[in-house]
Amino acid sequence: MSKPLEKVAVVGTGILGAQIAMLAVHAGYRVKIFDPREEAFIETYNKIQGDLKAKDMTPFIPWEDWEACEQAIQKTTELGEAVKDAELVIEAVPENLDLKRQVFRELGQKAPPGAILATNSSSMPVSKFEENSGRPERCLNIHFYFPLQGINMVDIMGGTKTLPEVMQKGIEWIRSIGCIPLTVKKEILGFCFNRVWRAIKREVLYMWGNGFVDFRDVDRAWMIFTGMKEGPFALMDKVGLDVIHDIEMVYYRDSNDPRDKPPDALLEVIKRGDLGVKSGKGFYTYPDPEFMRADFINPKG
Ligand SMILES: NC(=O)c1ccc[n+]([C@@H]2O[C@H](COP(=O)([O-])OP(=O)(O)OC[C@H]3O[C@@H](n4cnc5c(N)ncnc54)[C@H](O)[C@@H]3O)[C@@H](O)[C@H]2O)c1
Repeated sequence: MSKPLEKVAVVGTGILGAQIAMLAVHAGYRVKIFDPREEAFIETYNKIQGDLKAKDMTPFIPWEDWEACEQAIQKTTELGEAVKDAELVIEAVPENLDLKRQVFRELGQKAPPGAILATNSSSMPVSKFEENSGRPERCLNIHFYFPLQGINMVDIMGGTKTLPEVMQKGIEWIRSIGCIPLTVKKEILGFCFNRVWRAIKREVLYMWGNGFVDFRDVDRAWMIFTGMKEGPFALMDKVGLDVIHDIEMVYYRDSNDPRDKPPDALLEVIKRGDLGVKSGKGFYTYPDPEFMRADFINPKG
């Protein structure tokens, strides 16, 4: 697959940024990364590796290539150094509008004028912070799911001024790293597939949070129905319950519809420090969650 550009920078290397960096370097891009927590990339790398191995899953990047990819990624301790010659910068910093604005402002100052600036935000259209960059015509949403696990579709959506050639380059870049672009033709909260996933999340959180059902039954049903190895609650644990709450609040603030408000029960779980896989406990307890046990689908008694 031909490459539409050569140099990529990833800013913020938690759960998503680390995966984006791995995919890009594996596809032959020169990749530089920046995170204020220097250890963030390697921690995430180890965590994802452990999770995939525990679930006996085949990773998107063959195991034998992981170490070489990890070593080929250029780790920097300064944002300016990471982005100074990048042609495409993808930010994957936490889902907070003020932070996204600040990061886009810095990227506008530190990345070359021709660089494309993309956000991996799960819920915010880039139009909310494109102006902060000073180059809204080169800004867009490029939203990944969990590519190292093979969930390799990627939403791509322009802002209010994105040039058609910038969209086209983004689409080509997504294809070049082995992913499937889902092109959103006009701005909508939730992009393409993320909006479908969000509708599922809202319903299952409502049913659990208001005491209608046990979350395990929802996951069981989902696993039987789809053939997947995990249900919506296990998936939310993986994303991080704090991240899920932040995303749901974005939809709620946008609509002002009380039915969009995440249940108080979710906030209580988060306040206890139960954030999902990353804290060792969420809906399930890790590293040996109930849903991975042989008798989970059809427990005795
Ligand atoms: N978790 C998911 O499954 C998922 C899926 C799709 C998209 N996203 C989106 O990706 C983004 C990141 O989410 P995540 O789950 O990877 O979060 P995360 O908390 O795992 O990682 C965020 C990283 O950003 C770093 N960071 C904080 N401030 C920074 C700054 N100013 N500059 C650079 N790095 C900074 C943190 O140290 C951390 O390592 C969010 O916008 C989220 O909506 C997440």
